[in-house]
Amino acid sequence: MSEPLAQVRFSAEQIRDRVDELAASVRADLGGRRPVLISVLKGSLVFMADFSRSLDVEAEIDFMMVTSFVGGASTGVVRIVNDLEISIQDRHVVVVETIVDTGLTLSFLLKTLRARNPRSLRVCALVDKPVRRIAQPLLDYVGFETEEFMVGYGLDFKSRYRNLPYLAGVRDVPALALEPDALIESLTLGKGPSI
Ligand code: PRP
Repeated sequence: MSEPLAQVRFSAEQIRDRVDELAASVRADLGGRRPVLISVLKGSLVFMADFSRSLDVEAEIDFMMVTSFVGGASTGVVRIVNDLEISIQDRHVVVVETIVDTGLTLSFLLKTLRARNPRSLRVCALVDKPVRRIAQPLLDYVGFETEEFMVGYGLDFKSRYRNLPYLAGVRDVPALALEPDALIESLTLGKGPSI
């Protein structure tokens, strides 16, 4: 039998445990201060939902949509598609990001946010993928490290797989590019409760 195109790397349960640990660290460092949590869309929608509830402190949540992709390929130039609604001046800000890959998105974001004079600015990233790093943004909290291309738990491939409850590593990205729906069969979508 041939190797599966993708495999579960971090199960829903592993993610839940790690998210709880990250939230506990952030909560301790906030020391009772009320933060602004910034969700980097679209990828961090699932992580933010779990992280913010596990954090269990009164927080404001706002969203920023940035992209470096045009027509499916990264341009390397990040731009804001949707900006925050609230001011972060003098606020304690935590950026909630699912994955840091080249680091370009986060570096751009941090530069943009720093210019708005927050009182503090921290980054909580669920997955760090340092092998492809171009820019070096500082990550204050990291859940997992990987070298793989990941889908699920908010991360997509050509707008698919964001709602998988776990993170799967894709073994053969070029093969998936030829047949983007290929993982629907090999993963659990449509097959009932999560792993
Ligand atoms: C993904 C991910 C991060 C970014 C990380 O977002 O959610 O925001 O890439 O990549 P980088 O470190 O190489 O910049 P993407 O641009 O695919 O948009 P999406 O979140 O809407 O899927």
